[in-house]
Amino acid sequence: MKNFTNTILVTCAFPYSNGDIHLGHLLEQIQADIWVRYHRMRGRSVIFICSDDTHGTAIMLKAKKMKISPKKLIYCMQKKHKNNFLQFSIIHDHYSSTDSKINKNLCENIYHIIKKKKLIKEKYIDQLYDKKLNMFLSDRFIKGTCPKCKSINQYGDNCDFCGVNYNAIELLNPISELSGSSPDIRNSKHLFFKLSYFSQFLKKWINSGVVQKSVLNKINEWLSIGLRSWNISRDKPYFGFKIPGFSNKFFYVWLDAPIGYISCFKELCNIKKNINFNEFWSINSKNKLYHFIGKDIIYFHSLFWPSILEAINYRKPTKIFVHGYVTFKGLKLSKSKGLAISANKWLSCFDSDSLRYYFASKLSHTIEDIDINLYDYAYKINSDIVNNIINLAARNSSFLKKYFFNTLSNNIKELNLYQQFINITICIQDLFEERKFSLVIQKIRYLSNLANKYIDEKKPWLLIKNIDNKNKVHDICSLGINLFRIIMIFLKPIMPKLVYKSELFLNTSLYWDKINEPLLNHKINDFSCLYKRIEISFIDDFLK
Ligand code: MSP
Ligand code: ZN
Repeated sequence: MKNFTNTILVTCAFPYSNGDIHLGHLLEQIQADIWVRYHRMRGRSVIFICSDDTHGTAIMLKAKKMKISPKKLIYCMQKKHKNNFLQFSIIHDHYSSTDSKINKNLCENIYHIIKKKKLIKEKYIDQLYDKKLNMFLSDRFIKGTCPKCKSINQYGDNCDFCGVNYNAIELLNPISELSGSSPDIRNSKHLFFKLSYFSQFLKKWINSGVVQKSVLNKINEWLSIGLRSWNISRDKPYFGFKIPGFSNKFFYVWLDAPIGYISCFKELCNIKKNINFNEFWSINSKNKLYHFIGKDIIYFHSLFWPSILEAINYRKPTKIFVHGYVTFKGLKLSKSKGLAISANKWLSCFDSDSLRYYFASKLSHTIEDIDINLYDYAYKINSDIVNNIINLAARNSSFLKKYFFNTLSNNIKELNLYQQFINITICIQDLFEERKFSLVIQKIRYLSNLANKYIDEKKPWLLIKNIDNKNKVHDICSLGINLFRIIMIFLKPIMPKLVYKSELFLNTSLYWDKINEPLLNHKINDFSCLYKRIEISFIDDFLK
């Protein structure tokens, strides 16, 4: 049995069930998937999980609009989401749903524990209530006039114009976005998790190197302002888990969603009997836990989530890797703002590996946003992948086929050049590990230029005219293919489909720890097109 004491568990934030997978989700999943594939190539035991985030008002309303039950909606969406991830070669070991039975039980158990520890307080609060729809309104379903600067059309939590934060009931002339009616103020009992109890713990934990510097500053700011208790309950109507002991109250979606990380893992343990659930989550666990998230959900993951874990005496995340937003012409892609490029839309014009490569070429360990420019994208793919890397295989394989029965020579002639490629491995390993993928791509481009320059200088197409040079040409072209092989090993976590085809062409599988074992006296297969250019007409179609 495999030793799982050093298992790495990787999670992505759970996409909401009310929308399609878009390029924003894909950035995060591709970033995580590249990292996972890299670690696996290095022989580490990695588990990669995700789920759909199925609860909340938005999902309930969407189902209502579609005249189907929320259960039906989340079932269909999960199927679609799973399929989209597979289409982009994002392969989770388990993809669950926060609406699962295991998650429900776990949420209830956790609730009982924190209640017993007196970490819950009950409080009556005033909220805006839509009489037409018979429901309380969350902040984003309310608009009104800012109580401070009097700007109209402001949401229920803060003013976009003057930046002030307020309580929705302070808005002047509030209107329900859902029914258009003017809401009442109503009072009801809510359950609050005493977050401030964990202030000391959080200060220490968050400053122990678990997040990037820029993220840390923001969190420390929040901590210094002081933590307010967190409302974990919602009144009916709501789609979620009922709170034990209440007939009309539900857990807030952001309580059961992160707990979904645990239950998704638990489900996997039930399927794969060789993973030890208790050992993984125990406070002294030697295993690693990494969360990939966007910068909009830092608060939940850096404050609420570790506090819940601390409350139940579970291990904490090893690191939280935060990324920036995908933007298109400077605007954040988001379903709610009507600007989303769905996974399906992308695939209607382009392929998946090219997006993975393009994102990798822009991804770093920072939280900077990533703007998509389709012309830049097409240029990168055509020049780096097609003209440079694939061309290296194409031009050398043509000689090998014509003169050498597709068989590589039995030595590496230009050891210096070959060694240069091998020596860069350690640097590329560090860059993968640190999620500095754009620098990995830079190195790969540098190497492919170097290899092509070598072929340009040696000019096998001239040498071959003299039969005495035959052996020389054999060595040159064989080296070209061996350099291509190394580049493909480095690209394997990033472009799995291209590399798979290249493995068929090279007639061998590519492994990280075999980098230093060149193919000698080895028969390859006929070269066939490994990758197609991106035509400008594809972009025109896409933008139509
Ligand atoms: N359901 C919550 C997460 C719960 S985790 C226990 C959620 N869902 S989401 O669908 O809105 O976002 C899922 C992930 O995608 C988040 O990490 C979010 O930051 C990321 N992205 C959503 N839109 C994005 C961009 N435009 N760009 C990059 N990532 C963004 O939040
Ligand atoms: Zn204002």
